[in-house]
Amino acid sequence: MKQAVRAAVFPVAGRGTRFLPATKASPKEMLPIVDKPLIQYAVEEAIEAGATKLIFVTGSSKRAIEDHFDTDAELERALTDAGKDELLKSIQGIVPAGVSCIYIRQGEPLGLGHAVLCARPAVGNEPFFVHLADDLIAGNPGCLSQMADEYSSHGGSVIAVETVPRQSTSSYGIVAIDEKDGNRITRIVEKPKPEDAPSNSAVVGRYLLSGDIFSKLETIGQGAGGEIQLTDGIAALLGESPVYAHSFDGVRYDCGSKLGYLQATVAYGLNHPATGERFREHLQQVLADQ
Ligand code: G1P
Repeated sequence: MKQAVRAAVFPVAGRGTRFLPATKASPKEMLPIVDKPLIQYAVEEAIEAGATKLIFVTGSSKRAIEDHFDTDAELERALTDAGKDELLKSIQGIVPAGVSCIYIRQGEPLGLGHAVLCARPAVGNEPFFVHLADDLIAGNPGCLSQMADEYSSHGGSVIAVETVPRQSTSSYGIVAIDEKDGNRITRIVEKPKPEDAPSNSAVVGRYLLSGDIFSKLETIGQGAGGEIQLTDGIAALLGESPVYAHSFDGVRYDCGSKLGYLQATVAYGLNHPATGERFREHLQQVLADQ
């Protein structure tokens, strides 16, 4: 029987070097898109998909993430006294009742596979989501909900993929897919050169993984870049348990890159009820003045 997916893992220990100096003292996951940090979009997407256990695999200089998901009695009192009800609501509902946050430190930067393995004691042997907050996906329903839906029809593991230009394969996990077998993944390689890539279907930062992945991650050892790669753990899983590629419905923004972050800010700014109309006029003016 397929289990509901209740645990979501957020690997947030990475230093965000692509975004220095902004990320020198602040977590990259706390960069805001309009008025919410990236990690809040991540948590909202996981909760929408049914997650009730949010597991953050964190590191030094990331305390702001814990503070963000904690209650702030002093701020709540100040907003209540000032009658700022809307703002009060915006900070009170971030983690709804029935959802818990668990923080685990990844002592050393040994890679994404290692970060996921650190979450094992909190996940147990259940299926779970992995969400990389850098990859912001605008989708309705959210990408993880789409994947949970697909999982409920066939079980196994599900990984979100997107077609990328050939020359970009060395930035992603790349998969080969058997379309005749429900998009089952037959091969997965971490960051291959374009000439070695099995396709141009790239893994984006959303995974729904069977608990079997943990025993694989324990034994694979170092892979690309000397790190324990989640991709290699998934490769080890392929022969034993089905892993499916999910081409999500939505738009992905690589918010770990400056350009992707700006693109997301423009897209979300245009859609935001508080800014949309005037921001559109402003952008039109800026372009007309060029
Ligand atoms: C990680 C994974 C890679 C995946 C990517 C998606 O790489 O290792 O397989 O395609 O996330 O964003 P990173 O971007 O952390 O280098």
